[in-house]
Amino acid sequence: MPPPLLSAQDPAAIELAAQRLADGSLVGMPTETVYGLAADADNAMAVHRIFEAKGRPADHPLIVHLAPGPGAHGWRAGVDHYAREVPAFAAALMHAFWPGPLTLILPRREGVAAVAAGGQDSVGLRCPAHPVAQALLSAAAARGVSGVAAPSANRFGRVSPTTAAHVAEEFASLAEDELLILDGGACPVGIESTIVDCTRGHPVLLRPGMITVAQLEAACGQPLRERDEAAPRASGTLESHYAPRAKVRLMDAHQLRSAFQVLGNDAKHIALYARSPVEPARSVPRRRMPDDAAAAAQELFAVLRELDATGVRLIWVETPPEDPAWDGVRDRLRRAAA
Ligand code: TXA
Ligand code: MG
Repeated sequence: MPPPLLSAQDPAAIELAAQRLADGSLVGMPTETVYGLAADADNAMAVHRIFEAKGRPADHPLIVHLAPGPGAHGWRAGVDHYAREVPAFAAALMHAFWPGPLTLILPRREGVAAVAAGGQDSVGLRCPAHPVAQALLSAAAARGVSGVAAPSANRFGRVSPTTAAHVAEEFASLAEDELLILDGGACPVGIESTIVDCTRGHPVLLRPGMITVAQLEAACGQPLRERDEAAPRASGTLESHYAPRAKVRLMDAHQLRSAFQVLGNDAKHIALYARSPVEPARSVPRRRMPDDAAAAAQELFAVLRELDATGVRLIWVETPPEDPAWDGVRDRLRRAAA
């Protein structure tokens, strides 16, 4: 039997999923960004199962998700549990954007979440805003689970899942008792969290997301630096990542028009995702890219999966606008095309 998909509307499903986490099993968890493949961050065996299921190298660290709210089960207690110290600029970022799509890399307390951290002496922490993730994390915390390690619920190098059906597709080979998927609908943000490294005395942007650099700088009162060679390993920062089977190519509207003109009727095998009007000579699988960055991010991975599923060899995508609001989408598309 493939992994069961349970409606997250049902409070009993949340309780069952929380018990699975406490028992060391895996749960497909909806968050506001993408679905995560979740396990108890302090259970080395359970975390090992995540790496195994994803086919992810064991030295690529996972993000630990914390429950919302105050008190012994809330994110402040979680930060105390996992982080050795919290610089003032990191505290400012937490207070400004948690719960929300922001991950902070902090110095890790020795002896906690070592496997989840992939051997780094740091740990990635995030308190998600999605109500289902929050209910699950709170119910797990009540069962003694301080934090939940969850990478995006896709096999290594593939497109992140934004629906429960995507998760089921990625892990169809897992058994019923190995993975339970909570169906919380389509993820509202659609691309992964912004990641800021807070271990080097100043904030460093490791992965752009829907929280912009300007918002981050305003909240912490410091300029954000760009990542450099010495930055810790992050699969989301590998040059080629988030790749569908078809080859993705980024082109501006003018390049798209002339390329389709050259191909004429030979454009089969090509799918198109563009904002500008482009008229291929023959009909090709296509979706219109929204003019709004948030709307484009929300649908991006689902569109890539959908166009990929038509069996085309190439997906031609119009280059996103240079505007900072598009940084996250531009980053994911550039990696999909690498
Ligand atoms: O929105 C998200 O962040 C989603 C949802 C599920 O929360 N998660 C996600 O996880 O995108 P993942 O594993 O696909 O990407 C997490 C990124 C990776 O690039 C990882 O290497 C980096 O975070 N990361 C985690 N802990 C780290 C650490 N201690 N040092 C450096 N990078 C870290
Ligand atoms: Mg990922």
